[in-house]
Formats: sequence, structure tokens, C-alpha cells
Amino acid sequence: MSGIVLIGAQWGDEGKGKIVDLLSENADVIVRFQGGNNAGHTLVIKDKKIILHIIPSGALRENKICIIGNGVVIDPKVFFDELNQLKNNKLLPESTKIYISSSAHIIMPYHKIIDSIRETLTPTKIGTTGRGIGPAYEDKVARIGIRVGDLLFPDLLKDRLKYILEEKNQYITKVLKGNPLDFKEVYEDVVSFGEKMHPYICDTVELMHKLTRDRKNILFEGAQGTMLDIDHGTYPFVTSSNTVAGNAAIGSGVPLSAITKVVGVVKAYTTRVGNGPFPTEETSEIGDYLRKKGGEYGATTGRPRRCGWIDLVALKRAVMLNGIDRLVITKLDVLNELETIKVCVAYKYNNKETDIMPYGLNQLDICTPIYREFRGWKKNISNIRDGLDLPVEAKDYLKFIEDFLETKISIVSIGAERDENIIFEYLF
Ligand code: GDP
Ligand code: IMO
Ligand code: MG
Repeated sequence: MSGIVLIGAQWGDEGKGKIVDLLSENADVIVRFQGGNNAGHTLVIKDKKIILHIIPSGALRENKICIIGNGVVIDPKVFFDELNQLKNNKLLPESTKIYISSSAHIIMPYHKIIDSIRETLTPTKIGTTGRGIGPAYEDKVARIGIRVGDLLFPDLLKDRLKYILEEKNQYITKVLKGNPLDFKEVYEDVVSFGEKMHPYICDTVELMHKLTRDRKNILFEGAQGTMLDIDHGTYPFVTSSNTVAGNAAIGSGVPLSAITKVVGVVKAYTTRVGNGPFPTEETSEIGDYLRKKGGEYGATTGRPRRCGWIDLVALKRAVMLNGIDRLVITKLDVLNELETIKVCVAYKYNNKETDIMPYGLNQLDICTPIYREFRGWKKNISNIRDGLDLPVEAKDYLKFIEDFLETKISIVSIGAERDENIIFEYLF
């Protein structure tokens, strides 16, 4: 039995979906433990592109158990739209089983309204995905959230929702100057989703424990990335959940002992979507080049992603925060044609050189990257399957990353297709 937590080590969109799909071949169970449909995880299977926002990325393989854990916030409409789309396109095997934790929180219509209006009013516009994620987590912590299991008790839900909606409507109309929501409509909608969701809802804690006892291979699928973590990321420009590996246990209800390995997914360069500091961002030609070659447009919102060189200072912190045992490097092929490739090895901060990320509001904004340059390989590497066949320049680049981060690379992804990988070591 193994319990592998797979997380994004940068600012999200590292290619987690593709790697989860790959590792799912040997996993029995795939669990989402945080975030919601702010995630956009892309799989490319025989030229067909599938983007999953809430259903775990192992769902397309035969005989998998896919769990949406208690730490997730779920928009019922998005869940059913995604499920139906997979079914209609015959992408979901009959053997796939999907379960939703009764303790996961529901993203309600008012969460989405609050998220989008706030973004237009606040002076520190975060650039959220507008999916209601932050407001849903706020209510969870404020103990006024609606949980998946609550939908199965419509009578009990009624009074609670009435009070909550009254409060939300006050806030929406008086503070945000938006339009109020109608109780009957909100209540009936959510209850009818509850009826549809019934077959998927269960006590996933019991289920996870049974699966652990049965010595199943479990893959915990992280969403977003380490630098977007609510505690450890570039606050306030972060998402509203803990994205680091430590949250896999809490967000799925297993003990820490169920986790045997942490895998960090790292893009061979860096991207960020939304606002906030990004020391190695390239706003000129090279940034445009990476965006174009890497197809760097948000899988959830379609926004162009900000692009830049790999940042080993930030990654060193990600290794520390998550306890990353193994690295997966993705999108190495995007660098194929470059003459030189830069790697950030330190920051210049207050006229000093440091390889430690500074703390405090806006401090990362005043860091400038110090680079080490590598020669490009200037070859197409997407057909390579054996690491020994990589051009020496690519080997040097990867070796430098491994040495700097003191962490072994297990897989290098060299194309978006399911089989475009160089596998050095099997993780399950
Ligand atoms: P995630 O959110 O971490 O799952 O990543 P996204 O799906 O948002 O973004 C990653 C993008 O890169 C997707 O369009 C993938 O199809 C694509 N991708 C993943 N791995 C590779 C790779 O090794 N090479 C190339 N060229 N594209 C990749
Ligand atoms: P995946 O799982 C990249 C970013 C948003 C915004 C900030 C807060 O595909 O890697 P939110 O809607 O979560 O309140 O937005 O976080 N963000 C992501 N960026 N990939 C993601 O998910 C993201 N999910 C949220 O752009 O900056
Ligand atoms: Mg994504």
C-alpha cells in the first residue's frame, strides 16, 4: 500500500492533471482534498483534450475509486455538468466510482456573487477565478457553511439557510450594492441538487479507512500550487485553502501515517495566473514566447498566464513546506528551441544576495532574480522515452535542479499527451 500526495510546487498549472492521470494507472483511489472548481486539470488522450475542474483526474481510467474529500468546496452544478460531459463523450468508464464527502462544503450562489463583485471593489484585486471559492471557505470557518450532507435533511436546512441568506442579502445589497437572492429559489435549487447528489454522498472518512485497511494505492490530488497556499503562499494573493501536502490528511480524513510519499510537480519554467508577486516574471519577448509555446492560457478562466523562468528559491521553499520526496518536471519540451535558459538561484533583496524567500507584505515585489544561464539543447525531445537519450544540455539542466533542490526527479514530461514521458522511477 502507498499513499502518494501529489501537489503543485509553484503557482498552479504545473501539469498536475496530466501526472495524476499517468500515476492513476497504478493507483486504486484518487482523492481531491482541497480547492474546488477553481482548479483546471488538463488531460490529453489521443489528441483529445479534457479539462477536469472537480472530478479527480484519475476518473478516466478503468476501475478507479474517485473521492471528493471533506476539504473540497463543491459547486453542485459544476459537478453534474462535468459528470454529464464525461458521460456524454463516453469518457467515463462504467467501472469508475465517484464519492463525495458529506462534510465537503457547498459553493452557494451567493458565494459566486460575492466573489465577483468584491473583485471589482477591492483595492488589492486578487484576480480570483470568480468561482466563489474564497467566500465558501470563509463561511466554513465562520461556521455558517452548508455541507453536502445537509442537503439530505431539507427541513433542517430550511431554517438555517433562511437566516444565512438574510445575512448574505444584507451584505450583497448594502455593502456590495448588488441584487438580493430569492430564498425560495436558492433553497429549492440546492435541495434538488441534493436529491441528485444522494447516490454519490457518503462518509468518505469510513471509506478512506476501509481502503487504507485494504492496502489500496491512494493518490491524493492537489489543486493550485504551494505559492497559492493560504498560510504559506504569497498572501494575500493566494487561494483560500491550504494547498500544501500536509493538508491531504486533513482534507480527506486519513491519519498522517496513510501518507508514504510526497511528489512535487514542477514546470520547467514558471507561470502564474492572477495577481501577486512573481520575481522571475518576463513581461517581454521571452514571456510571450513561453506563453505561446506552452499554450499558457488558464484552463478554468482562459486568462493568459504570466510567464517567466524557473525560480529555484521559491522551489526550495516548496520542497521544505511539502516535504517533497520526488520531483516531476513538466513541459521541458517547451524550452526546446531556446538558445539559453535561465534559472533563478538567488534574489537580490535590499542590496544583499539571498536564497531565502523574504517574508512580509510586498517584500517579494522588491526582489530581483539572480540567474544562472544554461545552454539550450535546440532539439525536439518529445519522442524520447529513455532519459539516457536526452541531449546533454537537457541532462545538465535537470541535474542542476536536482542538486539545487536536493531532491530526485522521477518523471520528466515532454509533451501534453498521456504517453509523452520519460520515467526514471515508478512511483507506485
Ligand atoms: P494543472 O492545473 O496543474 O493540472 O495544469 P493545467 O492543466 O492547468 O496546465 C498544464 C497545461 O500544460 C495543460 O494544457 C497540459 O495539457 C499541458 N501539459 C502538461 N504537461 C505537458 C508537457 O510536458 N509538455 C507540454 N507541451 N504540455 C504539457
Ligand atoms: P490548478 O489546480 C492557477 C489563482 C487565481 C487567483 C488566486 C485566487 O489548475 O493549478 P481563487 O479563485 O482560488 O480564489 O483565486 O488563485 N488560482 C489558480 N491559479 N491554477 C489554479 O488551479 C488556480 N486556482 C486558483 O488565479 O490568483
Ligand atoms: Mg490548472
